[in-house]
Amino acid sequence: MKTLLVTGGAGFIGSNFVKESLRAFPDFKIVNLDALTYAGNLENLKDVEDHPQYVFIKGDITDAALVERLFEEHDIDYVVHFAAESHVDRSIEDPGIFVKTNIMGTQVLLDAAKAHWETGKDDLGYPTYREGVKYLQVSTDEVYGDLGKTGLFTEKTSLKPNSPYSASKTAADLLVRSYGKTFKLPINITRCSNNYGAYQFPEKLIPLMLSNVLDLKPLPIYGDGMQVRDWLHVKDHCIGIATVLLHGKDGEVYNIGGNNEKANIEIVDLILETVRKKLTEKKYSGIDTDPAKIDDSLKTYVEDRLGHDRRYAIDNTKITTELGFVPTYTFEEGIEETIEWYLNNQDWLDQVRSGDYQDYYEKMYSKK
Ligand code: NAD
Ligand code: DAU
Repeated sequence: MKTLLVTGGAGFIGSNFVKESLRAFPDFKIVNLDALTYAGNLENLKDVEDHPQYVFIKGDITDAALVERLFEEHDIDYVVHFAAESHVDRSIEDPGIFVKTNIMGTQVLLDAAKAHWETGKDDLGYPTYREGVKYLQVSTDEVYGDLGKTGLFTEKTSLKPNSPYSASKTAADLLVRSYGKTFKLPINITRCSNNYGAYQFPEKLIPLMLSNVLDLKPLPIYGDGMQVRDWLHVKDHCIGIATVLLHGKDGEVYNIGGNNEKANIEIVDLILETVRKKLTEKKYSGIDTDPAKIDDSLKTYVEDRLGHDRRYAIDNTKITTELGFVPTYTFEEGIEETIEWYLNNQDWLDQVRSGDYQDYYEKMYSKK
């Protein structure tokens, strides 16, 4: 049995990954280390909390003593590192926590992996490691910066992050790369485009718009709404990560994208239209929004995000040709399934919007 340490497994992508992995890999034990910040939620993992091959540890990745102890106690073979501060708007408000979690946390994990897996030295003085171990860094296409109207990010595109969030992710990637080069630690880095799907916190575009539509609140569209993102269903992202974990060549970077570029305004229009149609056709438990009031007047153009990247789009050629990964969801089926999930999971939405969320919303959107 292999033991996989997942960090940030109570967040959006991490919780999807934990559940998919327990299903797909019956011979894996999964240790989930998560600090349960505002973005982490154990409700996301209710289905698997009693699974015999699953262990949850509440703790901070920057706590080196804790991380070292976990490696010892659970004899970790693989690391998939999701834990991060992940929201660009928050990084503009308060960059410090992004540096601590995203950069320093990554270094703590790299040091623990190196110390635990090292078996000796080779003739040139490089550390040697036990067979079959791997550290996988979950990164983002935002490290490449902003694309013009044409072109795609490849793994060779230079790194030009524009926000404190993406700068912290880039710094972490460079640390991971350096442990691969200097210490020959078996590493991979995956760089993914925008994810969507169930359990995404309603600070990100799709769940925020869904949440606001249901409350008949204004839909805040930054700038002209023509910024483009390349949307990937979270379950496809999870399959891409597992593919790299098991088959990726040591030291390599793999981009993971959805081949699915959409302008923000297209997403907002689609959400408006789909929710109106669904609420007209069917009654959903806990929702009493009048579908006749869901119309274009909710769309509200607000002040743009500072340093807002105009377009991201990923070239998937490397992961497709070398590892055989292709996304399975079409956007049409993925977004339909996602909207349906949010309409059927009002309790989850209410729970994550209680407490600090209202303060966050006020702070971020009242001045726009
Ligand atoms: P998220 O914000 O939903 O979840 C982050 C998780 O990390 C939460 O459970 C949180 O409690 C945990 N966490 C935060 N700080 C921690 C700490 N110090 N110690 C332990 N746990 C901590 O994020 P997400 O959207 O699921 O993203 C996961 C990863 O994927 C991130 O590294 C992000 O940069 C990357 N990524 C996200 C996307 C996307 O579209 N969401 C796209 C590409 C890459
Ligand atoms: O590209 C991958 C990245 O995708 C990940 O690394 C990040 O963790 C993830 O948060 C996401 O970053 P974005 O900034 O692209 O996602 P967000 O959902 O915040 O915004 C998507 C687009 O929608 C962006 O152009 C800003 C715009 N937007 C967002 C919000 C929250 C709005 O117009 N209004 C909004 O209220």
